[in-house]
Amino acid sequence: MFSGEKKPPTLFRWSSSLLLFLSAACLILWFPSSPDNLIQQHQQHDPPRVNQTQDPNKTKNDDVLITSTKPPPSFTVPTCHKRVSVYVYSLPAQFNVGLLNNCHKLSFRTDMCPHVANSGLGQPLPTSNTTGWFATNQFAAELIFHARLLKHPCRTYDPARATLFYVPYYGGLHASSKFRERNLTARHELDISLADYLRAQPTWQKHNGRDHFMVLGRIVRDFTSSWQGAGRLLKLPEAQKMSVLIIERNPWQGANQHGIPYPSYFHPSTWHEMSTWQNKMRETHRPHLFSFIGAKRRKAAIRNEFIKQCGESTRCMLLNCGGSSDEARKCHEPSEVLKVMSESVFCLQAPGDSFTRRSTFDSVLAGCIPVFFSPHTAYTQYQWYLPEKRSEYSVYIDERSKARNRIEEELLKIPSQKVKLMREKIIDLIPRLTYANPNASDFGFEDAVEVALASLAKQVKKLNF
Ligand SMILES: *[C@@H]1O[C@H](CO)[C@@H](O)[C@H](O)[C@H]1NC(C)=O
Ligand SMILES: *[C@@H]1O[C@H](CO)[C@@H](O)[C@H](O)[C@H]1NC(C)=O
Ligand SMILES: *[C@@H]1O[C@H](CO)[C@@H](O)[C@H](O)[C@H]1NC(C)=O
Repeated sequence: MFSGEKKPPTLFRWSSSLLLFLSAACLILWFPSSPDNLIQQHQQHDPPRVNQTQDPNKTKNDDVLITSTKPPPSFTVPTCHKRVSVYVYSLPAQFNVGLLNNCHKLSFRTDMCPHVANSGLGQPLPTSNTTGWFATNQFAAELIFHARLLKHPCRTYDPARATLFYVPYYGGLHASSKFRERNLTARHELDISLADYLRAQPTWQKHNGRDHFMVLGRIVRDFTSSWQGAGRLLKLPEAQKMSVLIIERNPWQGANQHGIPYPSYFHPSTWHEMSTWQNKMRETHRPHLFSFIGAKRRKAAIRNEFIKQCGESTRCMLLNCGGSSDEARKCHEPSEVLKVMSESVFCLQAPGDSFTRRSTFDSVLAGCIPVFFSPHTAYTQYQWYLPEKRSEYSVYIDERSKARNRIEEELLKIPSQKVKLMREKIIDLIPRLTYANPNASDFGFEDAVEVALASLAKQVKKLNF
């Protein structure tokens, strides 16, 4: 979503009886507030079509480790497909957990300490009796993946048996800690020592890193020096040989980059928790035809247009994050965001500072059908995760088309039966776009990490080592 940093977290009060997953009336949340708009490089031109190397529909076949979102009631122990066997490098601490010792300084605007806690899930939301809800930072995917893989049933300690090699580098946290480092040697030296480290490993040399992968919790621009302050990790030849799982890939040059979901707020430990939430989202009353949560951006005029259209429509719920301080505050409160989304049929996903938005995943979690205005907000990003047929689960309105000036009219045209099917599809997608609690051992649904491993395994198999 936003490449920029966030302001320090603030404490505030929350009050609602409507939000389904919370039953407490008055809660205190710990949550980061608005990203800045310091860095804006929204690209306007139309890219060539990206080669689809992975068929997302095909990840749900017999290659999948843990199949189906609806396991039999007897399901308890996660199983591991025999083809998947992941070796987790024990990197020197400076590449991962060592960085966390400095969590106050990982980002120049945000104290990351509360966010890196609990395996990267962050601070639990103070719900009365439901576990599984956290104020998760949008850039925490690399931490969550690491925690998941350390405990994964497909983990092997024997490199000779491994089919996949995971390099647990917290490259995103490191990159943001160096955004203001003017000494380029100092900014890049850890990335370069990682490359040196890998090249020296016999396990790397065997297939020249092609069976290796890493996970990055920030957008591609933060690693490719295309703006001042970025690292250059993804420019290194080693990083170009392995698979890079990343929350926003480069749609044009990122052949080895694979989009993974931004983490949202729900990290259930059991299939029961997951299906209970899905059922709630199926049944919830949605009085708003559409909603928009966002702030104006200097370089994304389309957002100003949305704020105008939404404000003028009686069918739209607007949460103007640039508005009054009280309204802006709500934009960064998980419960408020989910409340608006779970009361809406459609959620507008405007491009912001970069193509992708965390909000896309919050919207899916709330069973709200996303409306995209650029193919790069999701379609060219998350091919492992989303159905091939866009119209089954989303609405697309080209940001340069006239239709964007009459969003309400366009959405009203969609027959209600079709809307119902789309919502059903979205709600079915929730498990695979969710990061399960890494400490759970019996969650019994295929989450974002499982989808990634299955897709990587297929990819490596095609290499025919
Ligand atoms: C998982 O367990 C470890 C060790 O007990 C703990 O440090 C970590 O915070 C736990 N993570 C979550 C998400 O609860
Ligand atoms: C949690 O809350 C729900 C509804 O408020 C209630 O039905 C359920 O029994 C509670 N569970 C526990 C473990 O207290
Ligand atoms: C830049 O950083 C490197 C490595 O940390 C250091 O050796 C060098 O002295 C620094 N250069 C300057 C001009 O500070």
